Amino acid sequence: MIPVLQAAQDIYGYLPREVLEKIAAELKLPISQVYGVVTFYAQFNLTPRGRYIIRVCQGTACYVRGGGEIFQEIQDQLGIEDGETTEDLRFTLESVACLGACGLAPVIMINDDTHGRLTKDAIAGILAKYE
Ligand code: FES
Repeated sequence: MIPVLQAAQDIYGYLPREVLEKIAAELKLPISQVYGVVTFYAQFNLTPRGRYIIRVCQGTACYVRGGGEIFQEIQDQLGIEDGETTEDLRFTLESVACLGACGLAPVIMINDDTHGRLTKDAIAGILAKYE
């Protein structure tokens, strides 16, 4: 079931209910079993995600260097909170424990791009690059 769910999510960007119903029917499984797998694994999403995933580090090294303020600034500028997606499906915002770049604290990643040694003033310019 997992490869089928992964393939469906690659196509739709998330897993709509109708798609899960179709998968359950084709695999001859109860829909509850499909939902059980989807909700168990963090890789699966039941709601649409943005084209750009912003991961804001809230690990210790980043937090003591202002990671909390960076996170709040991004939330304020986008009008969304942790785990939410902007209405235009441009950004999804997620807090994470460590991005493995502690020397660059505070750090965010936007898809595969790393932005380090951030200040609040730099946020608007960075977000503007991702249209
Ligand atoms: S604590 Fe932020 S990158 Fe490690």
